Amino acid sequence: MAAALWTDLKGQVSKMKSTHLRTLMADQVRNDAMYVASGQMVLDYSRQKVDTETMSKLFELADKAGVEQKKQQMFSGQKINETEGRAVLHCALRAPRSASIAVDGQNVVPEVWKVLDAMKGFSDKVRSGEWKGFTGKALTDVVCIGIGGSYLGVEFVYEALKTDPEAAAAASGRKLRFLANVDPIDVQRALEGLNPETTLVVIISKTFTTAETMLNAKTVKAWLVKAMGEDCVAKHVVACSTALDKTKAFGIDSNNVFGFWDWVGGRFSVWSAVGVLALSLQYGFGVVNSFLEGGHAMDEHFQKAAAKDNLPLILGLLDVWNGSLLGYEGVAILPYCQALLRFVPHIQQLDMESNGKGVQMDGTPVAVPTGAINFGEPGTNGQHSFYQLMHQGRVVPSHFIGFAKSQNPVELPGEAVTNHDELMSNFFAQPDALALGKTSEELKVDGISEKLIPHKTFTGDRPSLSLLLPVCNAFWLGQLLAMYEHRTATIGWLLNVNSFDQWGVELGKVLAKEVRGYLSQARKGSADDSKFLPPTKKLLAKYLA
Ligand code: F6P
Repeated sequence: MAAALWTDLKGQVSKMKSTHLRTLMADQVRNDAMYVASGQMVLDYSRQKVDTETMSKLFELADKAGVEQKKQQMFSGQKINETEGRAVLHCALRAPRSASIAVDGQNVVPEVWKVLDAMKGFSDKVRSGEWKGFTGKALTDVVCIGIGGSYLGVEFVYEALKTDPEAAAAASGRKLRFLANVDPIDVQRALEGLNPETTLVVIISKTFTTAETMLNAKTVKAWLVKAMGEDCVAKHVVACSTALDKTKAFGIDSNNVFGFWDWVGGRFSVWSAVGVLALSLQYGFGVVNSFLEGGHAMDEHFQKAAAKDNLPLILGLLDVWNGSLLGYEGVAILPYCQALLRFVPHIQQLDMESNGKGVQMDGTPVAVPTGAINFGEPGTNGQHSFYQLMHQGRVVPSHFIGFAKSQNPVELPGEAVTNHDELMSNFFAQPDALALGKTSEELKVDGISEKLIPHKTFTGDRPSLSLLLPVCNAFWLGQLLAMYEHRTATIGWLLNVNSFDQWGVELGKVLAKEVRGYLSQARKGSADDSKFLPPTKKLLAKYLA
């Protein structure tokens, strides 16, 4: 880490902490410099606690931290995930057929397109009814079994396109369900109302060892077999995985396994078979290809745009500024679009599993706080929930995301504005309310009683940024997600942590294995609980009783 620069930035921290956003925003030259665009996507970060000097120092930090070199290393297939000895090449999954990206001297793009072509072929056959189920019926419904990175991104894109007119037309008559949690209640919900004879099961697991996914896969396989017998598996179960030996051992025909590679990290994998297969089955490959093209357009922007215009770089810098320097612990992600209802859970995993780290690449502790609590809800729902805290309680830097056009334009006769304009009025108002607040003087002018003035005062000075995109379709979703992926990578590079491993999820898994062994023994008769903490023993005893 460039220690001197971090120290230098601390000077900016004291300056910015004592300058209200009302003062900062009075400078229109500053505001104009903080309005940047990539094609039709606009980022306005004038409501951040920065002036142009702070931004120059942050850009300098990016320089000193080697963000440009690290970016080039990532795009050229170098093994930047050092703790796992892997390249980080999700961008190769959305590269055009003509591109060339090498890992260990081998161009991976032809392999990527071979699998994409296979998924197009398979999904076309299922959608047209040419691929039939074991009893000769067309497979109209799909259940995806997977968790974490093998689930969240797929569900986000599925939900986001459900009301897009083109995607919705392509999905007519089809159902897509997700089964992630090992909770048996989730099995019931996922299979509710489905007929095994018309259901295709897609098991999504990079490792094909994840406990939840394996148990759910066995449970759903048993549901199919009970209805149609053991031989139905070849027609009704397919997999997306890098572990071809394990998919075979599970009984899946190797022709029905869609592979990917160890250089695809779980939380960056929606662009691989993990997302492409299920989404193509639902919406057709053409729609999914637009999503890939959107992702690629953002890769080009991230690689080529100058720092001052580079959206992912600016997002990453501002998140580090807010989280590691100003000391704000959370970031609220607030899409003013109901179709993005599963966007935040995906970004939560993407960012918190990537940057929730305590040590630098060389294993020494990071000197500044790392990782932010990403949370949020679509607006305006969130306004009636946690925004109270954001306006008068803790300061939570926020990302407002809006679209110029709705997926479902509604205009009611007699109403002053369209329904979308009503929604977007809130998108434009909230950032100003957070930034400016309302003073006691203003309240007095409004005739508010002395007693109520403290309760009705808004301190303001609460940072946010606004992202405005044209419309929520596959192409712009691709751009949006790739931008957040590069934001996450940028944060990791600035903090010098490895954003691409996830050792922090292991310990809980190991302990769960011990409990599982104990429960299995205890159910059979007696078991030794001496290895557990006394409160754990007590709870286990109560559970078993
Ligand atoms: O939560 C840990 C994790 O390893 C994620 O990184 C990953 O996306 C998820 O579990 C699922 O893993 P797999 O695809 O191997 O089943």
